[in-house]
Amino acid sequence: MFKKIISYLYPINLYKTTSEISKTLEITLVNGQLVMDSQNTNYSYGSLQRILRKGLLAIGIDKITPMQHILVLGVAGGSVVKTLTEEFQYKGKITGVEYDEAAINLAELYFHLNKIPNFNLIHHEAFEFVLKTKLKYDLIIIDIFQDIHMPSFLFENFFQDRLVDILNPNGFLLFNTMILNTPQNERNLKYIEHFENKNLTVFTLPRIEDHNELIVVSKN
Ligand SMILES: C[S@@+](CC[C@H](N)C(=O)[O-])C[C@H]1O[C@@H](n2cnc3c(N)ncnc32)[C@H](O)[C@@H]1O
Repeated sequence: MFKKIISYLYPINLYKTTSEISKTLEITLVNGQLVMDSQNTNYSYGSLQRILRKGLLAIGIDKITPMQHILVLGVAGGSVVKTLTEEFQYKGKITGVEYDEAAINLAELYFHLNKIPNFNLIHHEAFEFVLKTKLKYDLIIIDIFQDIHMPSFLFENFFQDRLVDILNPNGFLLFNTMILNTPQNERNLKYIEHFENKNLTVFTLPRIEDHNELIVVSKN
């Protein structure tokens, strides 16, 4: 309780560990709330949660509520899972795919993701998972970062096409990207163009929390 009050004055670091994928992972109490950060960016809760919440609201709670299965690629502390289950009262299935064992341990210890009945967390690499899965999903949230780096497979046409293959009709992709320079801006434009050439509907939410751009694709 004392720490919680002090955290309104300045952030209190509670735990820090090394990670092969994200360099470091930290749990910090900020303004009474636990957040997970990597070395150079916020991973879960804090600004990251606000970003994905905006994307979900842009898709529409009315469209999300009746969905049956949502796939989350990149889970960390699972703030989007909490947004879906606690704020939006989403009752369908959620499958999360996370590669970093350290992040999984922290997600369970500090954020109790293992207590969410409709959430199943799979320890797996996301690219391989997407290639292998035999299921189809109504919404796929792609939120893969290695600190501030986005692995190049995310922007390969092959991966884009496979995501559309495993999406149900009328389903959505919600892709969180970071734009720090002109080449990354061009990378996003090319990514969007690839979907538009396949007659998919795409819209973006640019400059969220300064450096993020959300890309929303609908399969209709
Ligand atoms: C920004 S965090 C995800 C935050 C989460 N979506 C939330 O709502 O709190 C990015 C995560 O992607 C994971 N990641 C990075 N590369 C991955 C990969 N190839 N496969 C699966 N997870 C990966 C990282 O370990 C990290 O936990």
